Amino acid sequence: MKASAAIFPGTFDPLTNGHADLIKRSLRIFDRVIVGVLMNASKSALFSVEERVALMRDEFKEEGSRVEVHSFSGLLVEFAKDVGATVVIRGLRAISDYDYEAQMALMNKHLYEDLETLFMIAREENSYVSSTLVRQIASLGGDVSKIVTPVVHLALKEKYAAQKK
Ligand code: PNS
Repeated sequence: MKASAAIFPGTFDPLTNGHADLIKRSLRIFDRVIVGVLMNASKSALFSVEERVALMRDEFKEEGSRVEVHSFSGLLVEFAKDVGATVVIRGLRAISDYDYEAQMALMNKHLYEDLETLFMIAREENSYVSSTLVRQIASLGGDVSKIVTPVVHLALKEKYAAQKK
């Protein structure tokens, strides 16, 4: 059966222009994109999982039901089964992403034979963008306005202003 929906999983702490671009490009291939926001056990996340889900829903509100955003914990393959999806989309920025991504794709295939991972190459201007660097730069007062969306930029400003209080 051909897939009409794909999962786009990640930590999204926070969503970057790189993620947003891949989601939009995925919508040109699939009818629906189901974003899976990982509830990470580590307490070091800047945004809570509820905040990350809310930010992503706000970001893609114009897409309506074409973009669904859910949080998940545990295995990605179980999330895929829960939402009835058999395609996972991951972005590749540079060759350094390849080892980890290939290992994950193969392990997920081992765990769930029906699951296919599709890779998309990040746009050149997003190839050096990561959530980790966004957090680091924003926390040090640097300008991240060109590498995150206006929704995320505002949320970062509010988050760091609240932390200073
Ligand atoms: O944005 P990230 O941090 O690169 O996303 C990584 C993510 C969430 C896709 C990955 O850590 C994941 O799928 N975690 C769920 C646990 C799991 O299924 N682990 C086994 C993967 S082989």
